Amino acid sequence: FSLKDYNTFGIDVSAKAFVSVSSVEELKEVLQQVYAHELFVLGGGSNILLLKNIDQTILHINLKGRVLEREDENYAYVRAQAGENWHEFVRWCIAHNFGGLENLSLIPGNVGTSPIQNIGAYGVELKDSFVSCEAIHKQTLQTKIFTKEECHFGYRNSTFKNENKDKFIITSVLFRLTKKQHQLHTGYGAILAELEKENVDNPSIEDVSDAVIAIRQSKLPNPKELGNSGSFFKNPIIPKLAFDKLVEKFPEMPSYPVSTNEIKIPAGWLIEKTGFKGCRREDAGVHKNQALVLVNYGKATGEDIYRLAQEIQKKIWDVFDIHLEMEVNVIK
Ligand code: EPU
Repeated sequence: FSLKDYNTFGIDVSAKAFVSVSSVEELKEVLQQVYAHELFVLGGGSNILLLKNIDQTILHINLKGRVLEREDENYAYVRAQAGENWHEFVRWCIAHNFGGLENLSLIPGNVGTSPIQNIGAYGVELKDSFVSCEAIHKQTLQTKIFTKEECHFGYRNSTFKNENKDKFIITSVLFRLTKKQHQLHTGYGAILAELEKENVDNPSIEDVSDAVIAIRQSKLPNPKELGNSGSFFKNPIIPKLAFDKLVEKFPEMPSYPVSTNEIKIPAGWLIEKTGFKGCRREDAGVHKNQALVLVNYGKATGEDIYRLAQEIQKKIWDVFDIHLEMEVNVIK
């Protein structure tokens, strides 16, 4: 079974078998029949790099549905099933005038995998609207509700990448969204510029979403046209002391404070500075408009992309003494 159409990098590897489930009952049946270690859970396939054929059965989570579960004067509590496409869900919320997710427009992937890496963009993270998620333990088949606190959200991080890695299958997510007095996050330079360009003075959540879509389309390659997984690396966070030394050498280096003694550096800048932007090694490359995005020009293998990623890591380490951590889940 070819996985080419099931990972946004478009890597052509195969899996032993493929099973898709469209209800929690079906999911439990599969978990009863197949040992957990023989299953490989796949969501939208937008954050993985496959280096080899998968010797397991692919479990495709195709649970669909989004409902307004309850509401009060100010908030709508909306539940979306794990297999819903993330961006379609965001636009559905906007059409119903539910605010909070508009800055996260056009992020590839599904609702069910969004908590795993606490997806984020333009000053907003999933955790800002997240209430809880429902998950099934792969071995005991018990349902567990993870509250926001239990998820231990961090920058592109959560319990599902740490203590609870590979233990649960998220089946739905509950969001708390604004019904009026939307809290717009338009402070990000690119959003302001885009709204200005479109002559919008008093933006609605739809205007913000449209602006984000325009920015992303101008910078980030569409995975349907050019295989990629969004940002390949995390933006590194370094101690202030190390930063102070680095700016002496690279005064133009951009940075954002994250705490009193830690600074975040845009990995895209480091990669561009070391000359990788737009580079190409056979069919693996670095995108010409966004250095943080690695791309597959067509026939790259997972190994080709991985080799380029390691070459970048090594160079950044040599030049800046900074370790770039891969954000994408590499399946070795
Ligand atoms: N930069 C460069 N050259 C580049 C790219 C970026 O110099 O080729 C520098 C510039 O200084 C720029 C800064 O990096 O101002 C930030 O760039 P950008 O706004 O494009 O954001 P990013 O830090 O590269 C992060 C997220 C993205 C998210 C954007 C917008 C991570 C790992 N990535 O990227 O998320 O869309 O901010 O908020 O935090 C993803 O996770 O897959 C993703 C696309």
